[in-house]
Amino acid sequence: MTENADGRRWWHGAVIYQLYVRSWRDSNDDGYGDLRGIIERLDYLSWLGVDAVWLSPTMPSPDDDWGYDVSDYTGVHPDLGTLADLDELIEQADQRGMRVLLDLVPNHTSSAHPWFADAASGREAEHRRYYVWADPRPDGGRPNNWLDFTGRPAWQWHDSGQYYLHNFLPGQPDLNWWEPAVHQEFARILEFWFERGVAGFRVDVANGLYKDAELRDNPPLDSDNPLEGVFGLRFVYNSNRPETHGVYRDWRKIAESYSPERLLLGETWVPDAQRLAAYYGDNDELQLGFNFPFALADLDPARLATIVEQTLAALPSGAGPVWMGSNHDLGRFPSRWCGGDERKIRLALLVLATLPGTTVLYYGDEIGMTDVDVPPALRRDHATLDLEGGADRDRARTPMPWDGSPGSGFTGPGVTPWLPMADPPGTTVADQRDKPESTLSLCRRLLALRRTELGRGLADFENLAVTEGVWTYRTGPLVVAANFTDQPADMPAEAGEVLLTTSAEQAPPTPGVLRPWEGVVTRRSGSAA
Ligand code: GLC
Repeated sequence: MTENADGRRWWHGAVIYQLYVRSWRDSNDDGYGDLRGIIERLDYLSWLGVDAVWLSPTMPSPDDDWGYDVSDYTGVHPDLGTLADLDELIEQADQRGMRVLLDLVPNHTSSAHPWFADAASGREAEHRRYYVWADPRPDGGRPNNWLDFTGRPAWQWHDSGQYYLHNFLPGQPDLNWWEPAVHQEFARILEFWFERGVAGFRVDVANGLYKDAELRDNPPLDSDNPLEGVFGLRFVYNSNRPETHGVYRDWRKIAESYSPERLLLGETWVPDAQRLAAYYGDNDELQLGFNFPFALADLDPARLATIVEQTLAALPSGAGPVWMGSNHDLGRFPSRWCGGDERKIRLALLVLATLPGTTVLYYGDEIGMTDVDVPPALRRDHATLDLEGGADRDRARTPMPWDGSPGSGFTGPGVTPWLPMADPPGTTVADQRDKPESTLSLCRRLLALRRTELGRGLADFENLAVTEGVWTYRTGPLVVAANFTDQPADMPAEAGEVLLTTSAEQAPPTPGVLRPWEGVVTRRSGSAA
């Protein structure tokens, strides 16, 4: 058991590294990253100081949505490797003290999944009730006004004489969680992977699953907001349904029956701390839920400080928050928050590394990797391909730039990677690894400091002030002071001995002054060294 009687869990204080498998390291020169590529580079992750990796979807899939359309929940996608490779990855990670989380997609399957193939074979089919089917309205129209995530109708007409629901692409039919057999299937899937040593799951569309039993129309919404509703409709009846919480209470019991306890980290797409906390239940549902209001906020210290405070206040006792700035849907924080400004990127890394709870870094965050402009002809994300002005998710899914060799250390020379590398190539791991002033070295120092100073547990946190763009907070025995402005600022009085600065400037600092966009980690006066 790694749990302590005081309620500590292995993910408290941990850093999880989200690894987009197809883009991290290609071991067999086919242009796609793979599991053996991860095994080859595990020493890098251990050098960096991460505690766990979350692998983007690894299960067999026709890849309409790059693995978020699963056709077999207990297999490994042949492009990425084999079950034996995954077993070896778990084993090798374990030897380095790291855990492996997989991505689980319970809201929908691929239309190529055998359950759907059977369900589509006729209205009496055994698996028909696994999916959400509905008759046309009396006038022949669609069952309701729901739209999928591209803004098109969420109902697909099927030859069997009914519509089926897809909140995502037509190739991603929604599962029907009112059907008890679906619960049994997923309990088995969880156990299958937990038995193999998988440390937990990132749960895709965790606020989805159940849909309104009466399939009522979603109400109109005046202004779009990705967390409340889009395309003029509020997410009311197609997500965040109360019945979904029961699923997580069941899964939590399964997760807790293993040692160490398995982690359920939800993609909780909700607009505020109260609704986020609801997915933690009475600390008996998901152990962690992603904080989208934080990730989608600007790099504005007052806003971030408020979100942190509200989140900590809302969570049930014993539970911890989780923070991230980048992912494969939102884009990279070095672009979104920081506009590529290295000072801001370093400051944001400091914040992510010193907040209490769990931090998730997206591959490339550690070198300050920015979004890559992928020309339309080379885009691979079918979901956004033909959306005019739509989000281009490929920009944050391009290969990891390891070094300056042909193929960038991602793939072999002469191989065309599945998505283009940045052009010009930009900074690489090799450029930064041995330079003490690099962003990578800073990130590594931050993670080491987090481990030694904040330790394992939920650091006690207190917002001290946000004054004229300087955010000061206490986190465990540390005081962080972060200047979010273009001007020098006075070092706050609460700051103690400086343990780390984000500044890469060689010139010595002016005592008592924070440089523009500089953050410092200090030891709180009076706290033990
Ligand atoms: C989640 C994934 C996203 C995917 C969607 C449908 O939001 O992060 O990439 O398209 O679910 O599975």
